[in-house]
Amino acid sequence: MYDLIEKKKHKSPLTEDEIRWMITEYTAGRVPDYQMSAMTMAIWFNGMTDEETTWLTMAMAESGEMLDLSSIPGTKVDKHSTGGIGDKTTLIVTPILAALNVPTAKMSGRGLGFTGGTVDKLESIPGVRSEFSEEEFLQIVREVGFIDAAQTKALAPADKLLYALRDVTATVDSIPLIASSIMSKKLAAGADRIVLDVKCGSGAFMGDFESARALADQMIRIGELAGRKVVAVISDMNQPLGHAVGNTVEVLEALEVLKGAGEERLRTLCLAIATEMLQLSDQARGSREEAEAAIKAAVSSGAAYEKFVEYVRAVGGDESYIRNAAEQIGQKQISNSGESQGQDTAQDIAQCMEGAFPVSSVQQEQPVYVYAEKEGYLSSCNNAEVGMTSVMLGAGREKKDDVIDMEAGILILKKLGDYVKKGEPLAVFYTKRMEMLPAAKERFLVAYEISPERPETVPVILEILGSSK
Ligand code: URA
Repeated sequence: MYDLIEKKKHKSPLTEDEIRWMITEYTAGRVPDYQMSAMTMAIWFNGMTDEETTWLTMAMAESGEMLDLSSIPGTKVDKHSTGGIGDKTTLIVTPILAALNVPTAKMSGRGLGFTGGTVDKLESIPGVRSEFSEEEFLQIVREVGFIDAAQTKALAPADKLLYALRDVTATVDSIPLIASSIMSKKLAAGADRIVLDVKCGSGAFMGDFESARALADQMIRIGELAGRKVVAVISDMNQPLGHAVGNTVEVLEALEVLKGAGEERLRTLCLAIATEMLQLSDQARGSREEAEAAIKAAVSSGAAYEKFVEYVRAVGGDESYIRNAAEQIGQKQISNSGESQGQDTAQDIAQCMEGAFPVSSVQQEQPVYVYAEKEGYLSSCNNAEVGMTSVMLGAGREKKDDVIDMEAGILILKKLGDYVKKGEPLAVFYTKRMEMLPAAKERFLVAYEISPERPETVPVILEILGSSK
């Protein structure tokens, strides 16, 4: 290991055998953390070639079980987001794809720090399980058409060890290390094709477009070298996606989109990701327009929503909880003639949180509104701070074993570019931690800048690139 560190320190590329040896020995506990820390820091400074990054990815993917999805008919298309705030796209696109006969066998993470996790969001539905035996996992995909399960411990154990080490040695933010970490899990999870949602902005690992693009390019190249087709959607994460940040609130917002309404940027991103997934699958349509039309039809016919309900039932969840919520949201949508947007859609969710829906057990006297302290345009957002505000309210974890309050969260009423008057509500907070409210409000208000000039509008989709482009 000493020789390998020395090599990397002097910018010499490592060979495939050296990388394999290093990962095998580290996973077995025969290379100590202090040597691996020196190696990750040398990689942080000196980078890796495409070949090295691919060998590292493969070595980590093969460090544990490799899932065999061959018993599921059809091309399996996986999706992965590099992590963000209010990102509930998986909850929306996987049932849409299932309704179009494209199976997804997805393993997702739990939330940590300012980023939320799909598995936590799903577990906010009473009864929903996310840990399964391999047999059960495959059976659910075969029967329902998709699964959003927690990642098993047996998958890519080398990445688990290495990620924990990087987390405490300031070496997370290295493109070859992030790319190999993400892609090792995707390859071990067995998908044929992969759509990556690479987030870019103040609530993402990659703060600027150039680094997001470099990460996307790197992951596409790894996928190609490993024989997979990969498409990356680079999307804006300079403000929360949609209105809801939390767990129950995000499920409600996902239901709203599955019911054919919802906030525009969220809908746009879901449509783009679902289109890329459909076009990579064996159900691909002749053109992008046809694919988009098929996706919209899967939503408007109610097929995607019914798939979601079917999934909840299959994993032990309370179907009536979902139907009840969707009905309240649906009624509002009909009275809004189907295409409600902006604040209206946030109000639907707020009504659901406060109304007859079971989550009205939220133990606070009133929903807590946060008001603008001055007039002007919402011109920028420190999105990570919004994420951390939701953690303060109880919606996320600061440490891995913190317990989440599923009903805690934030409903964002205004988006960047909106004009607000002094005293107008910017957000609704849901929390049982009343003692945290003053500090949480302060943190939230500081996260947003209000200025006299209208900011330039940044589209939610910044670029789509990949194998088939
Ligand atoms: N997500 C991962 O899985 N790994 C990283 O290194 C960063 C984000």
